[in-house]
Amino acid sequence: MAKKGKDDSAKRAKKVYRIAVIGGDGTGPEVVREGLKVLKVAAEVDGFRYELADFDFSGARYLARGGDPAKPSIPVISDEEIASLKTFDAIYLGAVGDPNVAPGILEKGLLLRLRFELDQYINLRPVKLYPNVPCPLAGKGPEDVDFVVVRENTEGIYTGMGGVQYQGTPQEVSTQINCTTRFGAERAIRYAFELCRRRNSPRKMLTLVHKTNVLTFAGGTWMRTFQEVGEEYPDIKQDYNHVDACCMWFVKSPEYYDVIVTDNIFGDIITDLGAIIQGGLGVAGGGNINPRGVSMFEPIGGSAPKYTGMNVINPIAATSALGMLLRETGQAKDDARLARAGERIERAIIATTPKMKSQAAGKMGYSTSEVGDMVAAAVRNA
Ligand code: IPM
Ligand code: MN
Repeated sequence: MAKKGKDDSAKRAKKVYRIAVIGGDGTGPEVVREGLKVLKVAAEVDGFRYELADFDFSGARYLARGGDPAKPSIPVISDEEIASLKTFDAIYLGAVGDPNVAPGILEKGLLLRLRFELDQYINLRPVKLYPNVPCPLAGKGPEDVDFVVVRENTEGIYTGMGGVQYQGTPQEVSTQINCTTRFGAERAIRYAFELCRRRNSPRKMLTLVHKTNVLTFAGGTWMRTFQEVGEEYPDIKQDYNHVDACCMWFVKSPEYYDVIVTDNIFGDIITDLGAIIQGGLGVAGGGNINPRGVSMFEPIGGSAPKYTGMNVINPIAATSALGMLLRETGQAKDDARLARAGERIERAIIATTPKMKSQAAGKMGYSTSEVGDMVAAAVRNA
């Protein structure tokens, strides 16, 4: 046994982690560049090896290949590219969304396609206010805003089921189906209970967020699953909020929450609200996670087209996503060096944000690349 342990660690020490990098649209490539600076330093400090492979998926590439800007006409990414991505240890993504391409083409053809095909069924979105980051909620500080949203990431109304008929006529009719499965709800709920147990916060509470008073079918599946799985976790308090009330509580009493589990669209919406109470979209990072597969990490904000190429966008969210990438990959591959690097990057961010004038694009008091340099330098001392 001892020998095997030694063999494993020797193998791990030699391992070269392969990270796929998708800069994407708008300011995506700019913030990813800063994240990669931080990665370089973290690898030196924590002593692990990695190699990067660039993937140029973007609206610009879609158009350059003759894609129709008004409707999906060619694949945004190919089956071979998907297959190739499945061979990496992790994916680092900048942003998706181009004003020259109709809404939905890139989002569905790239981001959602990757989430679905790589079965990244968890979207993990921590809502954490770092010290000295202004919070728009009166009287709330870092001790009040520190919870995690587990968003189901492969189902709900995101599956694209439904359609439109008689388009452009007064008889136009469209349906957008909320596809909820016991299987999908259960794996998200189970992940959230486990996460809540690991977090071990004094609250130790998992809140299911849904709209069971109106969406009685899908909500019923979520609620029954939550209660049944919850029986296996007697140490965790079970809690439920309707999604509308949850929005109110985010603003009134964010300290109430520990871990939240919710369906895809509700998770999408409440995490933008979550991002703003942690200081803005420039701060919030997230992970699309397949616990037994290839996960993809991204800042949760969009491509911010109006700031593209100006070196004014905030790269903190992208560096935070990179920290998550290392922490989660380290945990998944049982490599403490990566997990340590992830924690270190979080400390480096906490050391950097107080020096910034604001977390808003163009108001940071520093450029994008200067903030990236500051985080990278802080990694050495964190
Ligand atoms: C997000 C985004 C995406 C989503 C869009 C770009 C498809 O808003 O990651 O939150 O709705 O999931
Ligand atoms: Mn969103």
